[in-house]
Amino acid sequence: EFKQLVFSGVQPTGNLHLGNYLGALQKFVALQDVHECIYCVVDLHSLTATLVHEDLATQTRGIAAAYLASGLDPKKSIIFNQSRVPQHAELAWIFNCVARIGWMNRMTQFKDKAGKDRENASLGLLAYPSLMAADILLYRATHVPVGDDQKQHLELTRDIAQKFNNDFSAKIAELGIGVDMQVGDEKVSGFFPMAEPLIDGPATRVMSLRDGTKKMSKSDPSDLSRINLSDDADTIAKKIRKAKTDPLPLPDNADELKDRPEAQNLVGIYAALSGQTSADILKEFGGRQFSDFKPVLADLAVTKLGPINGEMRRISADPAYVDSVLRDGGERAGAKAEETMKMVHEIVGL
Ligand code: ADP
Ligand code: NA
Repeated sequence: EFKQLVFSGVQPTGNLHLGNYLGALQKFVALQDVHECIYCVVDLHSLTATLVHEDLATQTRGIAAAYLASGLDPKKSIIFNQSRVPQHAELAWIFNCVARIGWMNRMTQFKDKAGKDRENASLGLLAYPSLMAADILLYRATHVPVGDDQKQHLELTRDIAQKFNNDFSAKIAELGIGVDMQVGDEKVSGFFPMAEPLIDGPATRVMSLRDGTKKMSKSDPSDLSRINLSDDADTIAKKIRKAKTDPLPLPDNADELKDRPEAQNLVGIYAALSGQTSADILKEFGGRQFSDFKPVLADLAVTKLGPINGEMRRISADPAYVDSVLRDGGERAGAKAEETMKMVHEIVGL
């Protein structure tokens, strides 16, 4: 069996929002006390959509500061940025030669991000999932906490691992470095684990505050659609007050949230921020109007996010400290990456 190891990453593009916090960062923090964890700022990924960035290094430090402000502890977790460990790009190249073009063409995120003019999207945007697979498998990570939108990419990561394990099975056996694992009903041996996504809890897909059918995203042109981690208390309260809802009061029963995306989203956000279940929340708020619920939700959001925002500012004011965390994390990650790549070279015959 593979040793349990958690890996995840966030791109240094624009402001982090509540969806990133609840879908990713809050979970990263909870996991660091029970698992060995590696958290990356995936700066290479941010080149796939836009090659030229205002100030990529500052944005990278900003995500690292958000990690630290959310409670990630560099003594417990490895925190670093991707481009410091060149093996990410090297393994991605090998995976580009393992993965099939058809697999990449099927990715819904590629279709969304490339838009109509697909022929003119960068090759990097198409190959993005190969680099993501490399990020994870470079450390032979077994668990990946992400939002629901990353599910398909995780499936592709497993497809790549499985094809690599199959294609090189004889060599892996000859070198005696195969690890036994359960894949479906089968017991197999391989070099890369079948990394599992950790997608659970009430906020795996936080929706836009303006449109309950769209996920909250930093690329949404409407700033009212999302709560940024950098928003002050008044802004958070205003955005929640203006959040779109249907005209009915809150239901008594969580089942009745199913066909009410806006209501479900706000209750889900409350649940994720408070650690309560939707049922508990509806016990208190069922039958009441959103005008009653929203101010309580706003207070909760301000109480949870305010201190993180303050910490982010404090930490960002000391870029040398952030750089030292990334440098140290990069060294530790790099040592692990080197070990894996030594074996990958032997397997592939490089
Ligand atoms: P974005 O999707 O906003 O461009 P990233 O791709 O960098 O942000 O995502 C960082 C992490 O945040 C990923 O694990 C992603 O699944 C998660 N995430 C992004 N948006 C949401 C959302 N609306 N709800 C829950 N998780 C999300
Ligand atoms: Na995303």
